[in-house]
Amino acid sequence: MKLMIINGPNLNLLGKREPNVYGSTTFEDHFAQLQQKFPNVELEYFQSNIEGELIGKIQEVGFNYDGIILNAAAYTHTSVGIGDAVKAINAPVVEVHISNTHQREEYRHVSYISPVAKGVILGFGLQSYDLAVRSFLG
Ligand code: DQA
Repeated sequence: MKLMIINGPNLNLLGKREPNVYGSTTFEDHFAQLQQKFPNVELEYFQSNIEGELIGKIQEVGFNYDGIILNAAAYTHTSVGIGDAVKAINAPVVEVHISNTHQREEYRHVSYISPVAKGVILGFGLQSYDLAVRSFLG
């Protein structure tokens, strides 16, 4: 089982970005924990602040990997292009968010990913990623 985690803009700042919303753990630390928790899953991780790079990575792995765990961050709410990329590939995509976006500003209630995702996990902090990995294990 080979899964790619793709994180969008500003998620490189996890640990120091709005810790009251996103917690105080860096994604690198959480990723290391994920690898320990799921030793039989080949997990990779990519982050970019650039929309086109996220689309490029979705296209690159979307025909080879068993699945993608995608937190498109702010692009979730704006990017027709990322939604189209998810629709174009074969690999199932699980959309994740650290925060419960439905409890937040109204512009975060819209997602261009949800209609084309296999499922959505949000609001469980960094544990949302763990639950997403589990969802692929059946
Ligand atoms: C987020 C929620 C988005 O609304 C926000 O723009 C982010 C992070 C989350 O994981 O909770 O950057 O995707």
